[in-house]
Amino acid sequence: MSYAELAEAARGQMGNCKACRVCDGRACRNCIPGPGAKGTGMVAIRNYDAWQSVMLHMDTIHEPYLPDTSVTLFGRKLSLPVMVGPLGDVNRHYGPKYDMETYNDVMLRAAAGAGSLGWTGDGLAASLHEGACRAISGLDGCGICTIKPWSKDVVRDKLRIALTAHPVAVAMDIDGAGLPFLKGQQPPAGAKGVSQLREIAKACHAADTPFVLKGIMTERGAEKAMKAGADGIVVSNHGGRVQDGVEATATVLPEISRAVGDDLVVLVDGGIRSGVDVFRALALGANAVLMCRPFVVAVYGGGGQGVMDLLAQLQGELADTMEMCGAETVSDITDDLVSW
Ligand SMILES: Cc1cc2nc3c(=O)[nH]c(=O)nc-3n(C[C@H](O)[C@H](O)[C@H](O)COP(=O)(O)O)c2cc1C
Repeated sequence: MSYAELAEAARGQMGNCKACRVCDGRACRNCIPGPGAKGTGMVAIRNYDAWQSVMLHMDTIHEPYLPDTSVTLFGRKLSLPVMVGPLGDVNRHYGPKYDMETYNDVMLRAAAGAGSLGWTGDGLAASLHEGACRAISGLDGCGICTIKPWSKDVVRDKLRIALTAHPVAVAMDIDGAGLPFLKGQQPPAGAKGVSQLREIAKACHAADTPFVLKGIMTERGAEKAMKAGADGIVVSNHGGRVQDGVEATATVLPEISRAVGDDLVVLVDGGIRSGVDVFRALALGANAVLMCRPFVVAVYGGGGQGVMDLLAQLQGELADTMEMCGAETVSDITDDLVSW
């Protein structure tokens, strides 16, 4: 099924999500619980719009080729530079059709089956992370689990559970404390300094597991991530859910990717909705992208097959764009192929 068909099939079953044809943050605005963004809800809209203003440079005078969309990340070859982003607490935000365990199981299996990778989220209930790690472990570690910036003891316990699952990487959404539904709750979540992050990175490295910091929006933040010993970052504002009034991820990506050079894997998310957007993100310096909300729609509209269909659609659109812009491999997608 196409994404439009998946959205049609999912509509009416997703709580506060309207399963729009284009997931651009406009219909859900600031709807939390739900898939919306914090405050005015403008950040999610800004994320989407910023990709649309990156213009592509066509170049169709080249030898014919079949574009190669594959990419190697954290030692693993993916068939396309797109991964399914983490989602915590699916019931709270999308209603009762899926519980978290079933959602993760369906999503992770389908993503891995299509040669991609799924990321899992975290939330207040300990069972969310435990279930996510069980699902990743059941797939021989084929997934990346994300832990929120809880207090030290809670992180230590969750990290132990995560590393036992042997995931491709462990991530921390370092911006997670800004989520409205985590305020004043138990366990508490909050900011973390470089030294505590260095401890987490060390524990991951002792288990031969890369550590990724998700929620980096400035060069300064990227430099701190490097100092903490992270192996990768996700340029992300959590889809606008943690702080109103911030830049779009497309706007800050070029300066962040220039600042880190080849020292870190650079991932990005927020409003990426098509293979054309994936091309834009790679041209602006990302090694790969995450997409979250559209994959929830894909699961609700078509289960595991929906996830595979959406990945296939994105891969086709990316390959098409690569052919039209003269890029044979993803490493040919450089910043001279776009203007912004
Ligand atoms: C309902 C919902 C729950 C989310 N839960 C998590 C989470 O547990 N951990 C995390 O790192 N990001 C979480 N995110 C953020 C997404 O992974 C992603 O960073 C954000 O939605 C931007 O990507 P998108 O515009 O493609 O959705 C969540 C997003 C939504 C909408």
